[in-house]
Amino acid sequence: GSAVPRTLLLLGASGDLAARLLLPGLGRLVASGALPNLRLIGSGTHAWDDGQWRRRVADSFATAGADGPRETEVVRSARYLPADVTAEEDLRRLLAACHGQTVIFFALPPAITARAADALARIGLPPGTRLMLEKPFGTDLASARSLNDILTRLVPEEQVHRIDHFLGKSTVVNIIGLRFANRIFEPVLNSEHVACVDIVFDESLGLEGRAGYYDSAGALVDMVQSHLLQVLALMAMDAPPTLDARDLRGRKAQVLRATRLWDGDPVRWSRRARYTAGEVDGRRLLGYADEAGIDATRGTETLAELVLAVDTWRWAGVPFRLRSGKALAGRRKEAVITFRQPPRVPTGLTGYEQPDRLRIGFGPDRLGLDVNINGPGNPLELDQVHLVADFGPGELPPYGEVLRGAFDGDPTLSVRGDTAEDCWRIVEPVLDAWRAGKVPLQEYPAGSQGLNESLLAPAPGGVI
Ligand code: BG6
Repeated sequence: GSAVPRTLLLLGASGDLAARLLLPGLGRLVASGALPNLRLIGSGTHAWDDGQWRRRVADSFATAGADGPRETEVVRSARYLPADVTAEEDLRRLLAACHGQTVIFFALPPAITARAADALARIGLPPGTRLMLEKPFGTDLASARSLNDILTRLVPEEQVHRIDHFLGKSTVVNIIGLRFANRIFEPVLNSEHVACVDIVFDESLGLEGRAGYYDSAGALVDMVQSHLLQVLALMAMDAPPTLDARDLRGRKAQVLRATRLWDGDPVRWSRRARYTAGEVDGRRLLGYADEAGIDATRGTETLAELVLAVDTWRWAGVPFRLRSGKALAGRRKEAVITFRQPPRVPTGLTGYEQPDRLRIGFGPDRLGLDVNINGPGNPLELDQVHLVADFGPGELPPYGEVLRGAFDGDPTLSVRGDTAEDCWRIVEPVLDAWRAGKVPLQEYPAGSQGLNESLLAPAPGGVI
């Protein structure tokens, strides 16, 4: 075709992230026709040749059902260049192989990302080059800041796309529509009417062979500091006047700047735990500490909980309780807004048990509303009903969605640099307290419901 050529230079191509998430998302995006004339250059430490790389790309595309003519064309022209991506000489060679609009994807551990970016800053990049980075953006506040300093020397902030695939989930994006395209929710989303907000992502999956990455991250960094804070931002922000990158990211940044640990007390308001052996979904899982590649003495958690305060007029006094855990039976993935009880239920109206709730399910992608009405039988006897509607899946998988924005040069769905730092600032007191051993590492059997004494209320009943 006549479209301008573009190159995706994938650093860390031989790694797990590329194969599991990035390439399948890319395959679907290519299949949609959004990336004509794409040249895919993989680079990594493995001494692969083009043939080996092409097979790997084809396999990853196939896991997403992306094996049509457009995808085959990308596979056919893909190249692999073995390189040390922290060495200037090697990077020069990689850049020389890129043509047209170039996007560099860092699918690398945080420390290597920083070194590769630093080396690129010494070489300089062709104008218009875009960078895509995968979380975690740094490993703490200080390293996130120094990474941002390096990136600032490389390209303008609008050309840095920090990927958080939760921002590509249709349900998560839909929080914006739900809140700001309806009259009935927004006026009551504040401390006068809301008792608490829970954001929960409990998975049945265990480690799934990702020891190299996960053991140095843990649930707090892998899920809470990243994905769940992005969800919090969308749920708690004020209405952006437009959905362009400046307005939307500005609103998110504002609310995250006002977010901090409840009472500033990590001992009281955080919990950590890891799973022991057990059975989930008919699968037998080893205890986390016994998995290959795990250093049990690190004490990495597979479940993290914390309670946050959003210090704005709207939300002051409303706890935001966040949790994510692996190898859990519940598989509960939802954000729940629990409303305060009505000021008074008229005498004579019986059976009031539960407050009303608005529920946003992340899988299945659903909206739920728990309301008290009189059910069958006695009209003065209340029953709680669960109204449910499906959001419907996105046209692209979440990873494809965020990649599309980055290829289009639209950073709306990526994480801005100052926000990445703020997300570290929010969790840092917890990380410090955990490192200092001030919060015990609890255990829960794989396939159980998790902690016995959770900071969150038990799951409400009803469908989601
Ligand atoms: C990833 C985490 O970012 O998100 C994983 O690294 C987690 O640990 C995954 O399983 C959950 O996202 P999804 O889209 O697979 O539900």
